Amino acid sequence: MAKKKSTSRKNPPKVDDLTKKEAKKRAEALRDELEYHNHRYYILDDPEISDAEYDRLKADLEAIEEKYPDLVTPDSPTRRVGAPPKEELGTIRHETRMLSLRAVQEEDDFRHFWQTCLDELNAKRLSVAAEPKYDGLSVEFVYDNGRLETASTRGDGETGEDVTANVRTIHEVPLRLRESKDHATPRHLVVRGEVYMPKKEFAAFNRRQEKEGKKTFANPRNAAAGSLRQLDSKITARRPLRVFFYEIAPSSSNRPDTQTQCLEMMKALGLKTNPETERIESADKAVEWYRKMSDRRDKLPYEIDGCVFKVNRLDDHEKLGTRAANPRWAIAWKFPPRRETTKIKRIEAQVGRTGALTPVAILEPVRIGGVEVSHVSLHNQDEIERKDIRIGDHVHVERAGDVIPHVVRVVEQKRSGHEKKYRLPKKCPVCGGEVVRPEGEAVARCNNASCPARLKESIRHFGSRQALDIDGLGEKLVAQLVDNGLVEDLADLFELSVDDLTQLDRMGEKSAQSLVEAIGKSKEKVTLPRLIYGLGIPHVGRALAGDLAATFESLDELIDADDDDLMQLEGMGRTVASAIVQWRDNRRNRKLIRRLRERGVDPKQKRRGSRLKGKTLVVTGTLDSMTRDEAQEAIRAQRGRATSGVSENTDWLVVGDNPGRTKMRDAEKHDVETIDEKRFRELIGG
Ligand code: IVH
Repeated sequence: MAKKKSTSRKNPPKVDDLTKKEAKKRAEALRDELEYHNHRYYILDDPEISDAEYDRLKADLEAIEEKYPDLVTPDSPTRRVGAPPKEELGTIRHETRMLSLRAVQEEDDFRHFWQTCLDELNAKRLSVAAEPKYDGLSVEFVYDNGRLETASTRGDGETGEDVTANVRTIHEVPLRLRESKDHATPRHLVVRGEVYMPKKEFAAFNRRQEKEGKKTFANPRNAAAGSLRQLDSKITARRPLRVFFYEIAPSSSNRPDTQTQCLEMMKALGLKTNPETERIESADKAVEWYRKMSDRRDKLPYEIDGCVFKVNRLDDHEKLGTRAANPRWAIAWKFPPRRETTKIKRIEAQVGRTGALTPVAILEPVRIGGVEVSHVSLHNQDEIERKDIRIGDHVHVERAGDVIPHVVRVVEQKRSGHEKKYRLPKKCPVCGGEVVRPEGEAVARCNNASCPARLKESIRHFGSRQALDIDGLGEKLVAQLVDNGLVEDLADLFELSVDDLTQLDRMGEKSAQSLVEAIGKSKEKVTLPRLIYGLGIPHVGRALAGDLAATFESLDELIDADDDDLMQLEGMGRTVASAIVQWRDNRRNRKLIRRLRERGVDPKQKRRGSRLKGKTLVVTGTLDSMTRDEAQEAIRAQRGRATSGVSENTDWLVVGDNPGRTKMRDAEKHDVETIDEKRFRELIGG
C-alpha cells in the first residue's frame, strides 16, 4: 500500500516563526495529512499513527487557523466539530430526482422482477449488484473538483434539506476526495448514500440521553434522522453517525458503466462502501444471497431491513426506466416483518378528514423491532368482524414493512371469556352527527360536513409538507383555529391576521407573524399538483394530482371537466373518476375553489404537449436559458424521455457550454444528431 509522505517533522516550527505564506502552505499540508489519517482510521480501520500523534497534528493546524482565521477553509478537518447554529435548514434541489425503491416481500415477486428485467432487456442473462438495504436515511453529497460542497436529505425526491454543516461533522464523509491512480478526480460528482447510527452506538446514545433527562429515540433510524436534521451542527458532531455510499447519480461528470464499478470507484475516492456487496449472475444466487443476509442480519453492527438488487449495467437502467418514483432496474426485497403479542386495552373510533370513522385498538405498549407500539388501526368494522377482534383480546401485532403496525390475528387460546365485542358508534364521537355506512362500502362516515374533526384533519393535510407546506401549522394549532371558529374552511387560512392569532392561547406576536408569513409564502409557491393533492379529494394521491394538473392546467378546468375527459386519463379507473366527480359536484367544494381563487390561490400549469412523444434526448453542458433540470422537465412535459447517457436509442443530444466528453464521443459513435440550445427551444415549443 502506498505510504503517504509525512509532512510532520520531529520539531515543526512554531506558528509564530512562520510567515503568513509559510503558514498557508503548512496548513494545506497538515490538512492533507489529517485527511489521509482520517481515511486510514475511519474508513480502512487501519490507523498508521497513534491518537496522540493525530491530536498533535490537529493542534498544529488549529494554532495556525487561530492566528490566521482567514486561512480557515470549510473543508478543514478542524471544522468537524460543527458550525454556529442556524435559524432553519435551507433547501437544495437535487440535480436528478432521488428515487425510492419498490419493495417486495415474497420470493415469487423477486423472481418476477428478475424475469421482467430479462424480458425487457431482451437478454438471456442478467448481472446485478446485491447490497444490504440499510435502515437509515438517504443523503445526497455533491463534490466539485474533489471538495465536498453540499449535502442534502432526500426530502420529496426533488428538493431536500440542506444538511451540509451537519454532514461535515461525520468522520466517514471525506471533506476532500482521495486521489486515486485509477480515477481522475471528477470535476462534478454527485453521490448518494445512507447515513445511519450503528446498533451499539445507538443503545449507548439512548442511555446517555435518558441519564441526562433528554429525548430518547425509538430506533436507530429515528436517531440518525434526528441527529442529521439539527440546526446546531455541534449537536450532530456528538452523535455517532456513519455512512455507506451506494450510488453515483446520473448528473456526475464521469460515471463508470456498471453499479459495481461505481462502488469500486467510490471506494477508491475514499467514500465508504459496504463490504457485503456482491455481483450476482442468477436469480438462484440472488435468493441464496438474500437468505445469507437474512441469517447475518442480527450479527451486523447496523440495522438492515432487506436486500437491494440493482441491474448492474447503467445503460440498462435507461432502457428499463422508472415507474412512478421507482426505478424498474432495482428492487428492495424486504425481510419478513417482526411480530409480537400484546393485549387490547380498549378500542376508540377516530374521525379522519373524509369523515371516515376508523376503529383504533389501544394496546398494552410493546416493543417491536426496536419501536414501541401502543395503538394500531383496525381499519373498519368488517375487518374487526373478519378477525373477530374483541376488547381484552391478546393479539399478534406485526410491523408491516417495519413501519405501520397491524393486527395479524387473535390468540384465541388466551381468551378468558371476559372479552367484549366492539361496534363503531352510531353517532360521531366528535360532533355527535349521524354516522352512515353506504351499502356495499366498508367505511362508516360522519355525515356532518362541518364536523370539526374532519375540518381539522383536512387543514392538517392541506398544510402538510407534500401539499401547501405551511411551516408551523401543527396539530395543536389547527385544533385551536377550528375550536375558536377562526377557520371554517381551507380558504379562511388565507385571511388569518396576526391579531386573530395572538388571541389564541400561548401564541406570541412573533409566532403569529411567522405563521401569517408562512401562509402567505405557501400561496406564492404552491404548484397546481400540490394544491390538487392538498384538497384531499378521495383517492387522489400525489401521482394522480400530478397527472390531473398536467391535463387540466388549472383548478377551474378540472372542476369543469366532463366525466369523459376524466375517464380518459391514463390509468384512471371508474371508482376514482367517480370519486372526483362526486367531490367536484359538491356545492361546498365548488365554493371552496372559488374562495381559494379569490384569495389568490390559483396556480396554473402548462398543459403537457406531445412535441417529443417517443423521442429520447440527452442534455450535456450548461444551457443559457435554463438549468439542466428545467430542460429535462421541459422534455418530459412534451412527453419525451430525458436520459443521461447517449446510446443508439438517443434521438438528439442537446449541447450546451462545456459539454461532457464521453457524451460527445458516444454521440459520434452512435451517429446521434447534436443540436444547440436554440434548436432545442424550438423543439420544445419556445
Ligand atoms: S439505492 C433508486 N441502495 O432505500 C435508488 N437505497 O426506497 C434508490 N436504501 O431512499 C437508492 N439501502 O434510503 C439504495 N443499498 C441501497 C440502500 C438504499 C437502503 C434506502 C434509501 C432509499 C430507500 C429507497
